[in-house]
Amino acid sequence: MNEEQQNNQQEPIRFLVFSASLRNDSLNTRLAKLAAHVIEKNGGKVDYANMSEFDCPSFNQDLEINNAHPKGAVEFRKRILANDAFIISCPEYNGSMPGLIKNSIDWVSRFRPQPFNEKHALLMSASPSMAGGNKAIWQLRMPLEHLGANVFPNMFSLAMAHKAFTPEGKIADELLAKRFEDNLISFMNLVEAAKNYPCMKKAWVEFLGEKTDAVTERVE
Ligand SMILES: Cc1cc2nc3c(=O)[nH]c(=O)nc-3n(C[C@H](O)[C@H](O)[C@H](O)COP(=O)(O)O)c2cc1C
Repeated sequence: MNEEQQNNQQEPIRFLVFSASLRNDSLNTRLAKLAAHVIEKNGGKVDYANMSEFDCPSFNQDLEINNAHPKGAVEFRKRILANDAFIISCPEYNGSMPGLIKNSIDWVSRFRPQPFNEKHALLMSASPSMAGGNKAIWQLRMPLEHLGANVFPNMFSLAMAHKAFTPEGKIADELLAKRFEDNLISFMNLVEAAKNYPCMKKAWVEFLGEKTDAVTERVE
C-alpha cells in the first residue's frame, strides 16, 4: 500500500460541536449548526450536542461525596474524550460567558485525568450586538487554556446575528461566510496534523532551535 492509499484509509477527524445556549431559538445554536455543516462538507465527522446534555447543578465541593459527578459532567467528559477536538459557540451575557458553561467546565475539570488537557478547541460567538459576543469567548479561553486545552488563536464572532442568517441558516454576507468557512478549515487542518502527522510537530520544535530531548519528546 503506498503512502497516498494509507492516508486515504485514515479515520475522519471527529469534532464535538455545541452551542452554550439553552434557548430554543438560539443564534449560537444556528452558528454551531452551520459549523457542523461546514465540517461535514469538508470531510470531518461531527458529534453534535445540545447544552442541555451538559448542564449541571451549581458547583459545590460538598456535592463531591465519594468522587460523585453530575450526569451533565459525565456526559460532557465522555463526549470530549470521544472526539479529537471541540467547538463551542458561546453567547455573551453581561460582557462574559453564561454561568452555565463555566459551571459545566468546573465540574468536568474535577475528573482525573483532566479531560480538557491537550484537546484542541475552537471558540465562536453570535450576538445581536455589533461586537458579536466577542468578549465572552476571550473569557471562555481562560479556563480552557488553564486546563491545558489548545485553543485555536483565531476565533469567530458573528455581529448583528439576528440579521446575519439566510432562511436556510447560512451566513448571508458572502465575505463573512467565506471567512467563517476558511477559519474552520484552518482549524480542521491543525487538528488533523496534530493527530496524524506528529512528525510536523517535531519539525516545529526543531525549527525553534531546540534539539528533541526528554522534554520536547512530549510533543512528538
Ligand atoms: C442576561 C443577558 C445579558 C446579556 N448581555 C449581553 C452582552 O453583554 N453582550 C451582548 O452582545 N449581548 C448580550 N445579551 C444578548 C444576547 O447576546 C442575546 O440574547 C443572544 O441572542 C443570546 O444568545 P443565544 O441567542 O444563542 O441564546 C445578553 C442577554 C442576556 C439574557
